[in-house]
Amino acid sequence: MSNHHLRSQGWFGRSGKDGFIYRAWMKNQGIPDETFRGKPVIGICNTWSELTPCNAHFRELAESVKKGVIAAGGFPVEFPVMSLGETLIKPTAMLYRNLASMDVEESIRANPMDGVVLLCGCDKTTPSLVMGACSVNLPTIVVSGGAMLTGRFRGKTIGTSDVWRFNDAVRSGAMSEADLRMAEAAMCRSRGHCAVMGTASTMACMVESLGLSLPENAAIPAADSRRKVLAEYSGQRIVDMVKEDLKLSDILTREAFENAIMVNAAIGGSTNFVLHLLAIAGRIGVPLDLEDFDRYSQGIPLLANLQPSGEYFMEDFYYAGGLPALMKAMHGKLHAGAMTVSGKGIEENYREASIYDEAVIGTMEKPFKELSGIAVVRGNLCPDGAVLKPSAASPHLMKHRGQAVVFEHIEDYHARIDDPDLPVTPDSVLVLKNVGPIGYPGMPEVGNMALPKKLLEQGVEDIVRISDGRMSGTGFGTVVLHVSPESAAGGPLALVRDGDWIALDLEARTLHLDVDEAELAARRAAWQPSHPVAGRGYVQLYQQHVGQAHQGADMDFLRGGSGSAVTRDSH
Ligand code: FES
Repeated sequence: MSNHHLRSQGWFGRSGKDGFIYRAWMKNQGIPDETFRGKPVIGICNTWSELTPCNAHFRELAESVKKGVIAAGGFPVEFPVMSLGETLIKPTAMLYRNLASMDVEESIRANPMDGVVLLCGCDKTTPSLVMGACSVNLPTIVVSGGAMLTGRFRGKTIGTSDVWRFNDAVRSGAMSEADLRMAEAAMCRSRGHCAVMGTASTMACMVESLGLSLPENAAIPAADSRRKVLAEYSGQRIVDMVKEDLKLSDILTREAFENAIMVNAAIGGSTNFVLHLLAIAGRIGVPLDLEDFDRYSQGIPLLANLQPSGEYFMEDFYYAGGLPALMKAMHGKLHAGAMTVSGKGIEENYREASIYDEAVIGTMEKPFKELSGIAVVRGNLCPDGAVLKPSAASPHLMKHRGQAVVFEHIEDYHARIDDPDLPVTPDSVLVLKNVGPIGYPGMPEVGNMALPKKLLEQGVEDIVRISDGRMSGTGFGTVVLHVSPESAAGGPLALVRDGDWIALDLEARTLHLDVDEAELAARRAAWQPSHPVAGRGYVQLYQQHVGQAHQGADMDFLRGGSGSAVTRDSH
């Protein structure tokens, strides 16, 4: 593509009053004319925010991208978008994923950009940026922020998954509040996102396996100087991608999505991956459904021995060879020719990789665990499906029949979970309603409900839990999530009552509520929704338009894309 055909020339290449305005106000930043005249303009979409601590180093990362863009003959422009900090945003960052994606989409389309670099880190900052960029479909490359260094506390390595363990330990009296404070600083001791294979790391692996980043993007630690080198190379590469007109739709093919699902199985990625990949597929227009996650996970063992399914951390993963080494171990399963931002098939990106530590990255012949991936269960309790992460579940509960202990909403759960009179046993099934997309609203990560204190005191570490909510990628347990349709939409989950028998059979992929049809019909006739309903603003829009979990929980009017053309462009 000649520079003459650059999209940005629709702004900076104009003559007359409009061209004057487009260029003159850029010059108030001290930018000489020749710096951007006729050059590919590269937007650096930055989720930097001090309220997103995982992304707080991104201004520095953006500087590295800029160096690369300039070196390759482009003109970099950094711009902010809504940043979703998982730990601080209330009620849940997921409520705003679609809103942030709208910000990204409109910011890219409305401005003079020829290509985009997406700076992503904390959980939702990756899918929101990729979703928004897909709806515009310019040449786009992702640079992830990298994980924190491994936490170290009193001689032990720790990471985000230990938060749940520490919480249980404090509640059972095995750990003091003072020790908990000490552990906070020991865990988050460097820049970067969660150091386990939680959602942020899963998303970083997702973009690399989809072909949206340069090799090694997934695992270089945030504090490692090679992260900056990767950012600079990405800045260089996006300029060439603009010249090659290599767009997102050229990379995000059905094969790329299948690769991402297989890799997610091998890394033991977060269940949130399902929602985000479905939403991304919906934006770029590639057919993908819930069954694909089960189908393409089959026959893929767990290769990465990383928390929460295993023992190690992202830092170890990088030193052991990172995602290229893991993908090389999967060679023969993956679609080797799937195009990537490097301009090459994905196999060329991992061909030279090696596994340096088989304790961290296993092989297909010697995997870490046979069980992996995302299991999709169906039955009269979840006609449109629900998901469970087998590698994080307890083997003795994978085929289980127990009686429901029901919580109508999250406040009900908090009020009663530690009640000594709660009729709960190790065989019970905890059921939490009204935590789905519409019901909460925003589908929070509460599905891995902390166990009742009286069971913890008995030494019980896991029981079956079912909800229409999500689970943190750092969570674990025999937890059935994303029940669809959700209870607030009148799904069968809304009809469950205390004492009902529920049967989970992971091998048969079923989840059954053992209540006869006549009784269920009577309950359905008497059912009234009880979730909060927003009266205005974005949340009202969200509740009116959000799709169910099995469709990725995107809003109906955001599916698909509108391209990069600006329809009305005169001043
Ligand atoms: Fe940001 Fe975990 S809180 S990645």
